[in-house]
Amino acid sequence: MFISFEGIDGSGKSTQLNLLREWLEQLGRNVITIREPGATLLSESIREILLSTKQSITPTAELLLFSAARTQLVERVIEPALTAGSIILCDRYVDSTTAYQGFGRGLNMDQVAEISRIATRGVMPELTFFIDVRYEQAQQRMQFAEGAAEPDRMERAGGEFFNRVRDGYLAIAEAEPKRFVVIDGYRDRDAIHRDILSVVEKRLQAP
Ligand SMILES: Nc1ncnc2c1ncn2[C@@H]1O[C@H](COP(=O)(O)OP(=O)(O)OP(=O)(O)O)[C@@H](O)[C@H]1O
Ligand SMILES: [Mg+2]
Repeated sequence: MFISFEGIDGSGKSTQLNLLREWLEQLGRNVITIREPGATLLSESIREILLSTKQSITPTAELLLFSAARTQLVERVIEPALTAGSIILCDRYVDSTTAYQGFGRGLNMDQVAEISRIATRGVMPELTFFIDVRYEQAQQRMQFAEGAAEPDRMERAGGEFFNRVRDGYLAIAEAEPKRFVVIDGYRDRDAIHRDILSVVEKRLQAP
C-alpha cells in the first residue's frame, strides 16, 4: 500500500505521517517512510540543491530536478518496497509537482504531466491526504515550530505563489476524488489523525 501526504509548507504533513506510522507499526505492519525529495543518496543531493538559497533555479530546471529525484526514489526504493509488501508513507509525491511547478510556477500543464508520468514510471499512491490550510496559517505554524529554521528556497516564494499551489491541490481533488482526500487542516492534530485513520482503516479492510 502506498499513501502520500500533500499540502503547502507548514500545513502539518510530517506530523500526520508520523502519527499514521506509529499507528500502523502498532498493528505490526512493515512501514517505510520517505520524504520527498529524498530517501536515496542522489535524491538527497538534489534536495540540497533545490532548497538551497545560494542560487536561483529556473522553473523548468526545478521541474526536472524534482522529477529526477523522484524517479530515482521510485526505481530504487518504492518499487522494491511495494514488491516486498510494505506500506509506504511518502511525505510529498508527484502531486507536489503538479501543484508547485504546474499551478505555482505556471509551467505548461501537459508538459508537467508528461514529465511526471515518466518520473513516476506510472507508480501512483492509492491514497493521498491533502492537509488543507491557507498560507497564513501554515506560516504561523512554521514560525512557531520547534527549532524553526530559516525559510528554504521554496518556502520563500510568498503568499500569492502558495495560494496558487493550494488552488492546484484543490483542482487535483476535484479531478481525482477517489484517491485524493481533502482534510480540513485547521483542527487539532488528533482530530485530523482520526479522520485519516478512518479512511486508512477502510482501505486496509478492502480486499
Ligand atoms: N493540527 C495542527 N495544529 C496546530 N499545529 C500543528 C498541527 N499540525 C502540525 N502542527 C505544527 O505545525 C508545524 C508544522 O507542522 P509539520 O512540520 O508537520 O508541517 P509540514 O507540512 O510537514 O511542513 P514542511 O512542509 O515544512 O515539512 C509544527 O510545529 C507542528 O508541530
Ligand atoms: Mg514536513
